[in-house]
Amino acid sequence: METTGQEKSTPGFPRLGQPAPAFEAQTTHGILRLEDFKGSWLILFSHPADFTPVCTTEFVAFAELAPELKKRGVELCGLSIDSTYSHIAWIRNIEQNFGVKIPFPVIADLNKEVATLYGMIMPGESKTEASRCVFVIDPNGILRAMIYYPLTTGRNMQEILRLIDALQTTDKHGVATPANWKPSEKVIVPPPTTAEGADERMKAGFETKDWYFSKKSL
Ligand code: BEZ
Repeated sequence: METTGQEKSTPGFPRLGQPAPAFEAQTTHGILRLEDFKGSWLILFSHPADFTPVCTTEFVAFAELAPELKKRGVELCGLSIDSTYSHIAWIRNIEQNFGVKIPFPVIADLNKEVATLYGMIMPGESKTEASRCVFVIDPNGILRAMIYYPLTTGRNMQEILRLIDALQTTDKHGVATPANWKPSEKVIVPPPTTAEGADERMKAGFETKDWYFSKKSL
């Protein structure tokens, strides 16, 4: 069967490059739908449970990251299978104990609808809690990156920011980014796809190691 690449993902199995699964959910900022975020980048992330230590460190870290994300046009939305009352109590507790206000909405996914749609529950880890997932959704609603971490490991905010910078650099300049790339470093020029292109690449003026391996500064 011919595919366009833009078909909907199978529920529970979101796929990069396809529309992110649509949802409507109760959050700490009222009812929100995926389409409310259209036009912005969105980081939809899940945590296993409110009032747990690793999740608390992550919430503080996401809140501290939020201004840098805002500069890049990125919104945050959290999710766990706890209730709105639990979320409200926890974010008030975080503010009291850590002096950090949580600026983003948190989905109360009590019936696991959104968690199931996005495949956030890994029964081998926990049948009831969502794993530590990060879904990066672009302004057109396309799922661009997914990160899954186990219950016991807190996520690295600098890597999440680096991922956003890399995706936005790719979109703006049509390039790829190498291992451990950081903004201001050289980027990868996509390899040629024809023999003629390979010949031309050798004289194209990039920093070229071989016909398939060229870097350039932006
Ligand atoms: C935590 O956030 O500390 C945590 C949550 C679920 C399982 C293990 C740790």
